[in-house]
Amino acid sequence: MIGIVGYGNMGRALLGGLLSNYRRERVLVYDKDRSKISKLKKDSLLRKAKSLEEVADKSSTIIIAVKPQNIREVLEGIREFYCNQLIISIAAGITTSFIEKAIGKKPKVVRVMPNLSAEVKRSVTGISKGRYASLVDLKKAERIFKSIGSCLILKEKYINPLTAISGSGPGYIFYFLYCLEDSAVSLGFSKREARFLVFNTFKGAGELISEKDDFLELVKKVASPRGTTEEALLYFKKKNFKRIVKEAIEKANKRAEELSKPCTTA
Ligand SMILES: NC(=O)c1ccc[n+]([C@@H]2O[C@H](COP(=O)([O-])OP(=O)(O)OC[C@H]3O[C@@H](n4cnc5c(N)ncnc54)[C@H](OP(=O)(O)O)[C@@H]3O)[C@@H](O)[C@H]2O)c1
Repeated sequence: MIGIVGYGNMGRALLGGLLSNYRRERVLVYDKDRSKISKLKKDSLLRKAKSLEEVADKSSTIIIAVKPQNIREVLEGIREFYCNQLIISIAAGITTSFIEKAIGKKPKVVRVMPNLSAEVKRSVTGISKGRYASLVDLKKAERIFKSIGSCLILKEKYINPLTAISGSGPGYIFYFLYCLEDSAVSLGFSKREARFLVFNTFKGAGELISEKDDFLELVKKVASPRGTTEEALLYFKKKNFKRIVKEAIEKANKRAEELSKPCTTA
């Protein structure tokens, strides 16, 4: 049985993915706010737990999908009933050693970092194992998270840099789209027209690229010499857009490290 603790944004996305890959009677959901899972009541095959004890008792894998500030109470709730289950945490900044120390019985822990695109099964998820988890545990976690997108297994020291790139990535892209939309309005388009242009440009460009593509080669396909795109790109270069992006990512990475520090020891 796979137990999900925390039925918020990510818990919901995870459940959606799991239900397309696992039999529903193999999934158990728990949230301290019972009203959140009340909508699931109609699904009679899906299990709903009444307590953390029940989750720990019935699950061989426990996915913790609560906010980092709530993780301590969840671990305290599981600790007493821990009996070799695989614990998977998606909480930003919470290290495997923090969880290991809080549980205190050489627990099997895997830390993962998905992103918001999990909602449409297109998450990019980083996965790393703790000291006591095996490669089989890692593969088990990978199988679960492949149900919401694609996965990259890596050492835990790369989880914070991955958070800065793919965890926060959708936010950067949304911000760029907002800037493009704002520019369209400045050129005289109505808000609705601007949204239409930006949305469809983004969707089209997204469908155009494949993982093998060289992004600069794609840029060349759009930017003919002395044309409009090149004019804008030259201005990006003059203003050192690439350096601004790099510095912003470094800031996100540093912030992820800061958030991890108090969560290294329990
Ligand atoms: N959202 C993202 O894009 C994203 C991306 C990657 C990773 N993450 C990570 O995913 C985790 C969850 O994020 P989220 O956006 O899904 O948060 P969320 O929407 O707040 O969901 C968390 C859920 O857990 C519940 N909860 C809190 N304490 C609990 C407890 N002791 N036992 C059971 N349930 C409890 C919360 O209830 P209350 O609301 O009543 O507290 C809420 O329903 C976070 O740690 C975050 O770092 C999020």
